[in-house]
Amino acid sequence: MEKVAPPRLGRLRFRSSARRTAAIRAFTFSVLAAAWPADCGAFSPTPTPPPSAQAPANTLQVLHWWTSPSERKAADLLAARMADEGLAWKDAAIPGGAGIGAGKVLKGRVLAGDAPEVTQIIGASVAEWAELGLLLEIDNVASAGNWNGFLFPTIQKLIQHRNHVVAAPLGIHRVNTLYYNRAVFARLRLAPPRTWAEFVLVAHKLRAAGVAPLAQSSESWQVAALFENLVLAESGPEFYRELLVKRNPAAAADRRTAEALERLRVVKGWITRQMEERPWPEVVRQFAHGDAGMMIMGDWAKPELAERGMALDEDYGCAAAPGTAKYHLYSVDTLTMFAGDYRHMPSQEKMARVLVSPSVQADFNALKGAVPVRRDADPARMDSCARASWSVFAQGAAVQAPSLVHRMAADEATRDAIIAEVHRYFLDDRATPAEAQRRLGALFRLFNLRSQGAPVAQDTDRR
Ligand code: BGC
Repeated sequence: MEKVAPPRLGRLRFRSSARRTAAIRAFTFSVLAAAWPADCGAFSPTPTPPPSAQAPANTLQVLHWWTSPSERKAADLLAARMADEGLAWKDAAIPGGAGIGAGKVLKGRVLAGDAPEVTQIIGASVAEWAELGLLLEIDNVASAGNWNGFLFPTIQKLIQHRNHVVAAPLGIHRVNTLYYNRAVFARLRLAPPRTWAEFVLVAHKLRAAGVAPLAQSSESWQVAALFENLVLAESGPEFYRELLVKRNPAAAADRRTAEALERLRVVKGWITRQMEERPWPEVVRQFAHGDAGMMIMGDWAKPELAERGMALDEDYGCAAAPGTAKYHLYSVDTLTMFAGDYRHMPSQEKMARVLVSPSVQADFNALKGAVPVRRDADPARMDSCARASWSVFAQGAAVQAPSLVHRMAADEATRDAIIAEVHRYFLDDRATPAEAQRRLGALFRLFNLRSQGAPVAQDTDRR
């Protein structure tokens, strides 16, 4: 008989799954009970449904944030491929670009003892959930399928925690993508800007012709995504990592950070509906209507443009965001499996196996606007934009920059705090780059202390 490793909870090992599940429940109960307001009476959590009311073992509830029309189609394709394998996909989609809603719902559901079997958890968040011992280790699937033989090294690292594979990778998005309206550019004899200096020249001409230069939302994560693009353009992946991955206070004080912040203010001037916090599909709609000449957004916008009747290389062109042609600012989508109920384990493992298969990788990513996580993918099956993304990513870590906004560079709390600082600076024209730098530096010092295990420090440096 196959030897089964004892189930784990963080660094704890349990003699049986039942004991482990009981430990998770007890832990969850204690967290909830501690947080229960005194004036709400005795603490009583929602009872766990009896086994008869539980979902069949081949039904997997999947929590994700693919809710735009094109994202929905990509998710439906996955559901159909699962059905071919005898698995039922029970959808639990939570709206909110970049997973802002999904992250909160997930936390609430886990605390209520109601974790979905499968969840879109990406980047550094994978490690955070794995560290709690809540994610299923799928080492046997990965080694039987020889995942290391075909996954890009960066992807291999992203799906591992403490030397265990805890996520199934789906696709790689390029966040530094520039879209331009080909008819407008042809009429005004414009070329897509390769640098931010060229961007300003193009923007002048578009505005003079009565076209809004840039479609952009002021939603916090979308503003921070623009900032990431500016940092990368200003200084390349090495400095990008110093600032947003290592969060070195010296990098926050650096001239290059000041320049990226100044540039953010300048670019704000080229946005027509500056203060509107529109969800990203609305921004895509503005661009698709021809109401703006350019847009900078992750390549998930491509299929959404197709939904709006825009064809790549005909109606719109795709290029790297100014100053970043050599680099790849990435967001990698991964699905993780929650380990609470071991009845689902065979189905969860089967799903992980199917997700990385060459055909699901090619078909899903074509619908999603991303590129396969496989080094052996066929570029002939990709559109021009995807091919450029895939070949730049394939050049390796030196040209890759992990997107902070999309959780590739920092844990959730750090990410949220940095996004909030950048957003605050963007909204308030009186805030100076020097001030924003000081505040970022203070945040970095605080986080550095935290990651060294120091007791929670008072943030005296910030006003
Ligand atoms: C995800 C994409 C998604 C995008 C917009 C990113 O974090 O990687 O799959 O389309 O957010 O919500």
